[in-house]
Amino acid sequence: MTERPNRQILLVERPRGKLEESQFKLIDSTIGDPGPGELLVRTVLLSIDPANRAWMQGRTYREQLGAGEVMAGGALCEVVAANGAPIAPGSIVQCEPGWQEYAVVPANRILPVAVRGALSHHMSVLGITGLTAYHGMLDVGRPKKGETVVVSAAAGATGSVAGQIARIIGARVVGVTGSDDKNRLIERDLSFDAAVNHRSDKLREDLAAACPNGIDVYFDNVGGRVLEAVLPLMRTHGRIVCCGAVSQYDSATPAPGPAGVPGQLIVKRLRMEGFLVSDYIGEWAEAQGQLAAWVAAGELAVLEDIVEGLESAPRALIGILAGDNVGKRMVRVAPDPT
Ligand SMILES: NC(=O)c1ccc[n+]([C@@H]2O[C@H](COP(=O)([O-])OP(=O)(O)OC[C@H]3O[C@@H](n4cnc5c(N)ncnc54)[C@H](OP(=O)(O)O)[C@@H]3O)[C@@H](O)[C@H]2O)c1
Repeated sequence: MTERPNRQILLVERPRGKLEESQFKLIDSTIGDPGPGELLVRTVLLSIDPANRAWMQGRTYREQLGAGEVMAGGALCEVVAANGAPIAPGSIVQCEPGWQEYAVVPANRILPVAVRGALSHHMSVLGITGLTAYHGMLDVGRPKKGETVVVSAAAGATGSVAGQIARIIGARVVGVTGSDDKNRLIERDLSFDAAVNHRSDKLREDLAAACPNGIDVYFDNVGGRVLEAVLPLMRTHGRIVCCGAVSQYDSATPAPGPAGVPGQLIVKRLRMEGFLVSDYIGEWAEAQGQLAAWVAAGELAVLEDIVEGLESAPRALIGILAGDNVGKRMVRVAPDPT
């Protein structure tokens, strides 16, 4: 039995209000060999997702996180050893090791990654958030050429890709972000047609000015106040893609609302539809092929936000909930394998 030194970040208590760094603890520990049907993996890039915070609230697609556990999270990892599983040491896999340098994971809970280009792209544009943007926009939102598409959290991992896909389809794309700098960036570097700041006191008027013909598709990453401002501007038979509700994650009790549901849905015959990216797992390879082709052709710009060191993970998560990221936030725990 080999014992390797490990470092782990525990969630020491569930937040009752806003998430704080004091609710996490970095510890030194050791990790043993994988058992039958298990892999020992080394975390390379740890994904930082608003969902990490939602998992602490419960009421999601997975069990509520408990105090004292290693903080949960997905990652790109290098296989160190495989016990009875047909995967070679050195391979890259997508899995859920949690916030730690090494983890033992079941071999049937990993996805092998055929690395093409930059490894980080397999976490951003070709990873979960890129795939979420792809399937959410094309399979749920189904924008058409000339339609107006609004995307919230538009400078974030999912929104930046979702907005660009709508633009590639030929829609007029309006982004909503929380800062004027982000708005300048999405207009200049991602070719959004217009951008609105959700911190404005006249959000609805700003949105109306940016969408003079109304809104055909709203790709909703945030819920709350932005969704409420969008609803009266939706056109008849418009589609609202319920991707996430990040405005509601960092508290003990999500706000009720928004006003306008179901009234606006009825009057305008809107389709408001939620989805999980995992619903489309059988189509991921095809989606990744298209996303990679758009990147290679220079039609889809990739925004990444890489923070160094496992110990930075709590701050990185608290920051993403406050909007301090541009593009896909991840934490580098180890250098890319050579
Ligand atoms: N359905 C699925 O299968 C699926 C899969 C992955 C992710 N998601 C969801 O997709 C959404 C985006 O996730 P992501 O990983 O791409 O994160 P992200 O957009 O990179 O980061 C979150 C962004 O949300 C914005 N935000 C935070 N609080 C806000 C508020 N109160 N009002 C408006 N905007 C706020 C911030 O940007 P600003 O500066 O613009 O405020 C922040 O940068 C999340 O809701 C997530 O849960 C869903």
